[in-house]
Amino acid sequence: MSLVAFDLSGPSRLENMELVVDGASKVFGAGESAVTALTPISLAIGAGEFLSIVGPSGCGKSTLLNLIAGFETPSSGEIRLDGKTVTRPGAERGVVFQQGSLFPWMTVLDNVSFGPISRGVPKAEAREKAMQFIDLVHLSAFASRYPYELSGGMQQRVGIARALANEPRMLLMDEPFASLDQQTREILQFEIKRIWQRTKTTIFWITHSIDEALFLSTHVAVMSARPGRIKKAFASEFFASDDPMVGSTQAFTEAKREVTMVLHEESMKSSKQEEQR
Ligand SMILES: Nc1ncnc2c1ncn2[C@@H]1O[C@H](COP(=O)(O)OP(=O)(O)OP(=O)(O)O)[C@@H](O)[C@H]1O
Ligand SMILES: [Mg+2]
Repeated sequence: MSLVAFDLSGPSRLENMELVVDGASKVFGAGESAVTALTPISLAIGAGEFLSIVGPSGCGKSTLLNLIAGFETPSSGEIRLDGKTVTRPGAERGVVFQQGSLFPWMTVLDNVSFGPISRGVPKAEAREKAMQFIDLVHLSAFASRYPYELSGGMQQRVGIARALANEPRMLLMDEPFASLDQQTREILQFEIKRIWQRTKTTIFWITHSIDEALFLSTHVAVMSARPGRIKKAFASEFFASDDPMVGSTQAFTEAKREVTMVLHEESMKSSKQEEQR
C-alpha cells in the first residue's frame, strides 16, 4: 500500500480522460473588487477514478466543482467531458452538497424519483428505479417518510440516492459528510466506497479530512491557498485495502503525514491572507 506523487495533468491524461479541466481559471467580479478564486488549473479524471480535493478554506475547491458541474463558466480555459466543452449543468454530472438539498415537502421516494420523472422517464419506471437506489443506501423502510423525519446522515444518503437515480457518469460531491458526527461519517465512508465499487461512477470529492481522502480515493490533490491551483497530487492505493483498520497502519500514517505537510504550508498562507484583509 502506498502513496506516490502523481501528475493529474500529464499530456496523455489531458487528451484521453473522461473529464478534463484544461487551464480553467475563475475570477469573480471586476476591477478593484475582483477576486481570483482559481488560477489556471489543469487536471484530468478518468472513468471510474475517485479524485479527492483537499485544500485550505477559501482556496477555490467549491469554485472548481461549480465549474465542472456547469453552474459557473470559467474565466479562461475550459472543462471537457468526453471531449465536449461543458457549458451548463447536465444529468450525467450528479451533484451532492454538504446538506439540505432535499425538497422538504416531498417524501424520500418522490425526492429520489424527481430527477428521472422531470427528464421524462415514465412515473412507474422512475419510481421503481428510485427504489433500487433507496435500497442501495439502505433506506427502503423510509421511502414514504419526509426529510424532517430523517437524521442528518439519512438525509445525506437520500441526497446520494437522488444523485444516483439520474444514473450520472460522475458524482460531484462538496464535503458531503462535513455536517455529520464522526461515527455516522465513518459508516457513510464505507457506504460510499461500496456504492462507488458497485456503480463504477467517477467521483470528484471535496473534503477537509485527509483520512477520508486517503481511505476513499484513487487520487488525492492538494490545492494551494487562494488563488487556488493544484499544489501537489498523489496516486493512492489505500482505497483498495479490505482492512477496515487500514487507517491505523504505519503506511497510512506516513501517507497522511506527507499530505498533511503539503496542506499545512498552504493553510498557513491562507490564514495570513485572512489576517491581511
Ligand atoms: N459567487 C461568488 N462571487 C464572488 N466571490 C466568490 C464567489 N464564489 C466564491 N467566491 C470567492 O472565491 C474564493 C474561493 O471560494 P470557494 O467557495 O471556492 O472556496 P472553498 O475552497 O470551497 O472554501 P471552503 O473550504 O471554505 O468551502 C473565496 O475567496 C470566495 O470568497
Ligand atoms: Mg467550499
